[in-house]
Amino acid sequence: MSEDRIEQSILDRIQEYKDRGCIVPSIDLIKTPSQIEGIKASSGINTLVLDEVGKVIHEGMSTQEIDDIVAKVTADNGAICAPLHFEGYPKSVCTSINDEVCHGIPMRHRKLRDGDIVNVDVSTIYKGYFSDASRMFMIGHVSEDNRRLVEETKKCLDIGAKAAKPWGFVGDIGYAISHYARSKGYSVVSELGGHGVGIAFHEDPFIAHIGRKNTGMLLVPGMVFTIEPMINMGRPQVEIDPINQWTIYTVDHKPSAQWEHTFLITETGNEILTY
Ligand code: MF3
Ligand code: CO
Repeated sequence: MSEDRIEQSILDRIQEYKDRGCIVPSIDLIKTPSQIEGIKASSGINTLVLDEVGKVIHEGMSTQEIDDIVAKVTADNGAICAPLHFEGYPKSVCTSINDEVCHGIPMRHRKLRDGDIVNVDVSTIYKGYFSDASRMFMIGHVSEDNRRLVEETKKCLDIGAKAAKPWGFVGDIGYAISHYARSKGYSVVSELGGHGVGIAFHEDPFIAHIGRKNTGMLLVPGMVFTIEPMINMGRPQVEIDPINQWTIYTVDHKPSAQWEHTFLITETGNEILTY
């Protein structure tokens, strides 16, 4: 039986980069085979939860009903909703509508309306392992501009994923995303980003969605992190809800979209764990 540890050849190669002055991941950011299995199982449940939301989400539904579904499907699968009580967060999922960039809090009185674009961000703990993904849903008759924002933001995630390669750098991801988003006339939120995930909800590295090639932390096989670009139709500036201290809005109140997956860096590229 093979042992549950990081291959020596990978550790040696990290040391070479470190000797050259590169920022390299600490050993705990590189997952062992058994940890990867655990994160994959967690990711499978996370995907199932998002699939269930996708089946029932509709105009007139309250965001609290989405929270109820996420809580139920997660519990039915023996898992825990990572957001609930995380740093005092009051609900099991984040639901962010139109000019809400992220961390929208589900509420009984907040109903989805015709033309809304909504991000549902699901994060799961299963047997101690964390996973994280979000999708956009379009409610009823969505304007052409909003539909394009949703679709191009998905493209930003795909383009960022393509740039996430072993022995590349975190900056490659943000470079690719920001270059594409700006070419389409959109702006990129810089205050929030992706993150390492797996053993904890939020680990290093911070994955900025803007960046420069060949900068930031080295990407190594076994690293697990999210890419989750927040793309704005208007200006990039955001502000936090002064009352609930969670929900992030665009300052100009123009719409924002976001898609997120959890990725594993492999020897040849990466694997989407939350498919
Ligand atoms: N799921 C978010 C992320 O992608 C984190 C939400 S924290 C919460 O990083 F407490 F608001 F749930
Ligand atoms: Co995340």
